[in-house]
Amino acid sequence: MPAVEDLESLAIELAREAGELARRRRTEGVAIAATKSALADIVTEADREVEALIRERLAAERPGDGFLGEESAAERGTTPYTWVVDPIDGTVNYAYGIPAYAVSIAVVSGEPDPQLWTADAGVVFGPASGELFHAARGRGAWLHGQRLAVNAEPSAAGALLATGFGYDPATHAGDLARVARVMPLARDLRRIGSAALDLAYVAAGRLDGYFERGLNPWDHAAGALLVVEAGGVIGGSPGGRPGRGMTVATGPALFEKLLEAALAA
Ligand code: IPD
Repeated sequence: MPAVEDLESLAIELAREAGELARRRRTEGVAIAATKSALADIVTEADREVEALIRERLAAERPGDGFLGEESAAERGTTPYTWVVDPIDGTVNYAYGIPAYAVSIAVVSGEPDPQLWTADAGVVFGPASGELFHAARGRGAWLHGQRLAVNAEPSAAGALLATGFGYDPATHAGDLARVARVMPLARDLRRIGSAALDLAYVAAGRLDGYFERGLNPWDHAAGALLVVEAGGVIGGSPGGRPGRGMTVATGPALFEKLLEAALAA
């Protein structure tokens, strides 16, 4: 069994390489290659190329591990490990030249689905800012040598929150109603456009809380580990897990209140 720190080191190396490729492609100009389920659900050639690079490198370094990525077919492995990868989280930002995008890489052991939010190691790398957030299970979450901690006591005046909106236009009315319910808890609300960065910022105490409905595993697998390792709580519905239901991530003091407001009918 590899040590979680070794998996973390490999994830860091891959995220740096992948991020450098994404950043370079961005400077060369980016075109939307395809629109997927909705106008906001897009893919660029860079998303595909970056995922292919990560996949190739993993096949060489860790043959036999499974792979679950946003842009290519999932593959079950012959080892207990699965790599969960969003090559560019925040693709709309990326395509429009807004620097809030990230490479998200996590590795989980065991049956992938139920454990995606307790990865063994995870990295969220923002190539435009150069910030690399990383964690290994039980060993803390870190940014450039500094241990991360969630904001344990958000200001009583109101929390700085972030959210995202689902792609399906049929869900937008519900998303906006949720925002209205949550606003009494908030000092202000951000829509950063990258779930991985939202979660990394909760881990770093920059945001007091984040909520979004309908995330995919590659959006939250690495960020969830950062939050937990920074002393935060991540969960949602159904069954207290993030995922296709509601995901809420905060420090311990705010969790129940934000979850209740986010879920209220
Ligand atoms: C999306 C971003 C966005 C969030 C969506 C995600 P993508 O990921 O994280 O902020 O609101 O739910 O799907 O498509 O840019 O990789």
